[in-house]
Amino acid sequence: MENIRNFCIIAHIDHGKSTLADRLLEFTGTVTDREMQAQVLDNMDLEREKGITIKSHAIQMNYKLDGKDYVLNLIDTPGHVDFSYEVSRSIAACEGALLIVDASQGIEAQTISNLYLALENDLEIIPVLNKIDLPHAMPEEVTDEIVEMIGCKREDVIHASGKEGIGIEDILKAVVHRIKAPKGDPKAPLQAMIFDSVFNSFRGIEVIFRVVNGTIRKGEKVKFVSTGQEYGADEIGILRLNQQPCNEISAGNVGYLISGIKVAKEVHVGDTITNAINPGASLGGFQEVKPMVFAGIYPVDTTEFEELRASMEKLQLNDASLVWELETSAALGFGFRCGFLGMLHMEIIQERLEREFNMTVITTVPSVQFKAYLTDGTQVDINAPSEMPDPTKMDYIEEPYIKAQIISKAEYIGAIIGLCMDKRGIILNQNYLTTDRVEMSFEMPLSEIVFDFFDKLKSISRGYASLDYHLIGFRESDMVKLDIMLNGEKVDALSAIVHRGKSQEWGRKLCEKLKELIPRQMFEIAIQAAIGQKIVSRENISAIRKNVIAKCYGGDISRKRKLLEKQKKGKKRMRQIGTVEVPQEAFMAILKIE
Ligand code: GTP
Repeated sequence: MENIRNFCIIAHIDHGKSTLADRLLEFTGTVTDREMQAQVLDNMDLEREKGITIKSHAIQMNYKLDGKDYVLNLIDTPGHVDFSYEVSRSIAACEGALLIVDASQGIEAQTISNLYLALENDLEIIPVLNKIDLPHAMPEEVTDEIVEMIGCKREDVIHASGKEGIGIEDILKAVVHRIKAPKGDPKAPLQAMIFDSVFNSFRGIEVIFRVVNGTIRKGEKVKFVSTGQEYGADEIGILRLNQQPCNEISAGNVGYLISGIKVAKEVHVGDTITNAINPGASLGGFQEVKPMVFAGIYPVDTTEFEELRASMEKLQLNDASLVWELETSAALGFGFRCGFLGMLHMEIIQERLEREFNMTVITTVPSVQFKAYLTDGTQVDINAPSEMPDPTKMDYIEEPYIKAQIISKAEYIGAIIGLCMDKRGIILNQNYLTTDRVEMSFEMPLSEIVFDFFDKLKSISRGYASLDYHLIGFRESDMVKLDIMLNGEKVDALSAIVHRGKSQEWGRKLCEKLKELIPRQMFEIAIQAAIGQKIVSRENISAIRKNVIAKCYGGDISRKRKLLEKQKKGKKRMRQIGTVEVPQEAFMAILKIE
């Protein structure tokens, strides 16, 4: 056990974790040249395409130093705030962390939030100044920032470049010398912490764990403490680039378990695996992952509802953080109300449904969860605008609030404060990291931040601001339901819950936006916004006079067909609501309002 080191790599998004992990794997010969491809651990297609890490990945390396053989378990973690729960669980399985900071960017919001997570778990921090090959790298300034932030010595900061392979050996040496070997008793009753699970369509769920005490042996009966379920340890093994089965894994080490578990929900990250016959105690609780954003997902073609249900079920086997229930909409028919960790997660689910399951879906206006307190003393959760209770029966509403950390260049402070105030935020404090970089914290309603806040923040700061946030609770708020009517018919899938102070303006802007987005049809379309019985805005889309086909005067049949086909393609993401065809973009219109 004294030869094992468990460490993770934490950083702000894009600071180069995955690239650096590639170099470590190469250097230790864990992947051969033939197996090597960039960001080898990001094995989902989507991860490769978007260049981001969505899931954590664990991999074991062998490393020889001063004549001794070491086993290094590396856990790569995602940087995007939607997936920060993945980071926290990975951290809990390690004794140390490489904290990667991009030498051209400096410390960013998630650098700090991940560092705090690591410190809370008593991890040894190895600071790495990465991308020193960049011509605009600022090694001196950024080292100052790092020293200031973690209180280390300048010489503790390792200079590296994942791209050029600089500093890789120094990092490995530091891992061995500075990170403590794991503690634990291999003879004690088994206690292993689950820190991840992966779905494999052939082999079922693979559970990734760290053994804290005891030894897990192939073929034994194990029990998951939180559910009390027992499984046979059919296969256990260590994680190389491919899985490597073995007969036992002891305290301090990381491994996988395959035992015929079919559903991701049976596996709770943070749960304890123990021996069914000689059980050890639970290692402590785990946090359920809570969705932040809710939206409806509907098939474009109503006959595909059952197929969509089957696809959602399969996707959920794979992604335990996706939650959904049936929903019916007067406008869209049968569909699902889904909970996501954030907008990126929502986008990924939509894309996976389309790519992996060949479904064409409409996603409705995303919303956060509100809590309504009724005059009869009961409380209901509102996950969709259609669930908003009758205002006369309602005492008050609460909405979720977050605390946000924003780091930016000092020159953008004014613009950022302006933006946050416009989003109903309150500034809590400002703290200069260096003369030019400032950390600000705000309290703000979650509903104002999950949608397009980040894009706006990036644009007003010319890309120089970073954001991190976490929920702090619910607060009373004056929210109203804004309804949209098309030709006098209320379209439930277009309504939204908005703050009363902004509701009139939003009604007007939403009508204008919908006018742009809904294509002209054979008849006039009236778009109205209403709050309760009161119409607050109206726009008209005039009718098209001519039939498109009339343009090509009989004659050329292939041209006619082409035109029709073109129209059909355009229809792909359209839904017929009453008599009106509404494109996908219209459901997201409220997010595009300036
Ligand atoms: P997430 O997993 O999405 O959080 O990103 P990451 O931190 O893993 O970053 P990744 O390794 O994907 O690198 C982000 C970008 O920086 C890519 O375009 C890399 O090619 C580039 N990059 C990474 N390391 C270096 C480096 O040392 N020097 C230079 N010049 N570019 C680098």
